[in-house]
Amino acid sequence: MKILMVCLGNICRSPLAHGILREKIKLNNINASVDSAGTSNYHIGDPPDFRMITTAKLNNIMIEDLKARQFTTKDFYDFDIIYVMDKNNYDNVIQLAKNKEQKEKVKMILNEITQGMNHNVPDPYYGGNKGFEEVFNMLDQATDKIIKNLLK
Ligand code: 4NP
Repeated sequence: MKILMVCLGNICRSPLAHGILREKIKLNNINASVDSAGTSNYHIGDPPDFRMITTAKLNNIMIEDLKARQFTTKDFYDFDIIYVMDKNNYDNVIQLAKNKEQKEKVKMILNEITQGMNHNVPDPYYGGNKGFEEVFNMLDQATDKIIKNLLK
């Protein structure tokens, strides 16, 4: 199973989702891989935002090795599931899909814990530290559910 996490910049939310899921895949010995990308080109080649690196580290998740890249149409072929963080990411990725099969790969990540509600993972970029911790808690819960499904 190949999973891709997607947000806007690929420096806050999706690298955290990538790092948390990577750790849980390893801990559970699951045959799966995870990557992340941004819909924008704003931060290509950049490491995650230092505030997200810090929040992750406080929770024993290391993400400083990650580098931002932009989502491409090739990702529809390379990944089985594409988790987006919010509705804008969803619309941007869906616009690039060529067929129904590709569209069906795209899922709002919080629907793993609040099915059908289409809740957004809020963008913490312009906010304070509390926003980063909130994002951590949401993605920790969502990735627990993803792991549970992979273990079925
Ligand atoms: P992310 O957060 O999509 O969670 O990586 C953002 C990072 C950068 C910007 C916006 C959101 N930006 O406008 O540069």
